[in-house]
Amino acid sequence: MILRLAYNRLRSFARHVAGPMIVRKTPAELEKMRRAGLLVYQILQQLRAMVQEGVTTMDLEEAAERMVRDAGARPAFKGYFVPAVGMRYPYVLCTSVNDEIVHGMPSRKRVLKKGDIVSIDIGVELEGYYGDSAITVPVGEVNGEVRRLLETTQEALELAIREARVGNRLLDISRAIEQHVTRNGFSVVRDYVGHGIGTRLHEEPQVPNYVDHHSANPRLKEGMVLAIEPMVNAGRPESRLAPDRWTALTVDGSYSAHFEHCVAITAEGPWVLTRP
Ligand code: MF3
Ligand code: CO
Repeated sequence: MILRLAYNRLRSFARHVAGPMIVRKTPAELEKMRRAGLLVYQILQQLRAMVQEGVTTMDLEEAAERMVRDAGARPAFKGYFVPAVGMRYPYVLCTSVNDEIVHGMPSRKRVLKKGDIVSIDIGVELEGYYGDSAITVPVGEVNGEVRRLLETTQEALELAIREARVGNRLLDISRAIEQHVTRNGFSVVRDYVGHGIGTRLHEEPQVPNYVDHHSANPRLKEGMVLAIEPMVNAGRPESRLAPDRWTALTVDGSYSAHFEHCVAITAEGPWVLTRP
């Protein structure tokens, strides 16, 4: 116990001087993460096809749970302890509708209607390795501004992916997202960030979607894997928690979009693990 404490003390000091401890994966580990990533991709494709007026977010949840179990995987979010909330998250999916930014909980009462947008976020563990990805899907026709919000967020993620290469630094990813979002008149959520991923759902480093001078800015190296996940509000950037203490909402009621991919840094460039 005493040794352990001393070790932790030393480690936190080392982290302070050296920056975050980022686990790099071997090619064999990346292949396993690839399998988890493709499973998440396939499930999201099925769920996207289900989205239409009248479907509830619990319908999506039940379908997702079946697909995860059928694949012999484990849902990564269900039972995941979040210290800030002091509870275990109870579902396979986060389904965040309209002004919900992230961590919306599936509900039988949440019936999707035309003009809504729903962010579907899923994580799985397969053979000890994690995959995590999110898409935001329109329900029927959405208005022009909302369409532009979805496009801009998706483009920001693509621009960020291109920066995920050896020789760059972490904040090159963050800057690509922030610039694209702000140039299009939308705002980046600052209260939630992306993350490293591997044998745990959340590993170091944090991957902010904005640049500030307090953030760690490590060099990107071969074998690092980042879950890059821009969360973009149509209006103001601030969030607040719903009474359920999980769901993050925009303060001004504006719509919010969220897209996420896991990206490995390789000698050949960025490898998006969560799509074919
Ligand atoms: N994709 C989100 C994340 O990576 C969802 C986590 S929900 C949780 O943080 F409950 F599992 F935390
Ligand atoms: Co994530």
